[in-house]
Amino acid sequence: MIGLTSLTESGSTRNPMNTSDTSATPSPDGLGVGQSHAKVILLGEHAVVYGKPAIAFPVHTLRLDASAELSGDGWRVETPFHQGHVRPEAEPTDELERLLSVTALRNTLDFLGERPAGISVLVKGFIPPARGLGSSAAVAGAIAQAVAGAYGHTLTRQELFELIQSVERVAHGTPSGLDAYATTEPAPVWFEQGAAHPLQLSAWPRLLVADTGVTGRTSEAVSRVRERYERTQAVVEGLLDEAATLTHGAEHDLRVGDHEALGEKMNRNHVILRELGVSSRALDTLVESATRAGALGAKLTGGGMGGCMIALVDSETESQVRASVIAAGARDVWAVPDLEVQT
Ligand code: MEV
Repeated sequence: MIGLTSLTESGSTRNPMNTSDTSATPSPDGLGVGQSHAKVILLGEHAVVYGKPAIAFPVHTLRLDASAELSGDGWRVETPFHQGHVRPEAEPTDELERLLSVTALRNTLDFLGERPAGISVLVKGFIPPARGLGSSAAVAGAIAQAVAGAYGHTLTRQELFELIQSVERVAHGTPSGLDAYATTEPAPVWFEQGAAHPLQLSAWPRLLVADTGVTGRTSEAVSRVRERYERTQAVVEGLLDEAATLTHGAEHDLRVGDHEALGEKMNRNHVILRELGVSSRALDTLVESATRAGALGAKLTGGGMGGCMIALVDSETESQVRASVIAAGARDVWAVPDLEVQT
């Protein structure tokens, strides 16, 4: 990778589960804030779990803002999914979104070595859950920053990454770490074997993100690929290697601005993901409708088995592709970059 510098800070030795290594004191007003956003994977999902590279883009229109306040009695968490007092020890039987928020709060407090009598966390904004957009990592990242901020502590990149990963392990089992970076990094990232790097772009590619409206849990999709890997290792290794080659090629395409070549690689990556067993009829339908309407490339994004697809468009094809995927059943369509956000 030429011209890329690591985003990862190597200085931190803090373990999010280690309570003995902290000097946090409440911020003067006991208030902290945190932000995060959705992400889409341009190429390389699933392959990234096996140490191959992936490229992800932020979706700034789908964003979360968290605040944390040291006040009141008990622990209170309010998100778009639930609100109310929470027990410090969340139960595995709790509804997943609630379990994730409580785990993010508890793990951040454990990291800080704090056990407040009263803390109130509020998460505003919305990222549709279980759609491959990084909702669980985004919720964890926003809460971790806000809670640390309430104690006057600004998390390093590595601390934030490790805290999000500790929550992602509850959601996904074996997360690659891509979502942890991509939902808290404002720029596109190259991610490989636990390290993230910024990408050089000659021009932002224009993407439409279309939601099938069908939920698809990443953990199930990752298990499906794992089963296939164990059954037919040589075949799956071949597919993962090819995905890695495509991702390396896409990095070059982005650097020189060859979006036609990039689109072809996205199309091929979708076929690979289908062969890995993580596409669905709804995803294939949206991909085909985007391609028919003139998209330069289209593929599922994220875990798959439901969730979202992305289409690479240009100014001439964008409105046709948007209309086509809506006619084919897309519940929502978002543009990346959002031109109002990205100037
Ligand atoms: C999920 O957004 C992407 C996957 O590659 C899983 C992971 O990277 O942990 C499917």
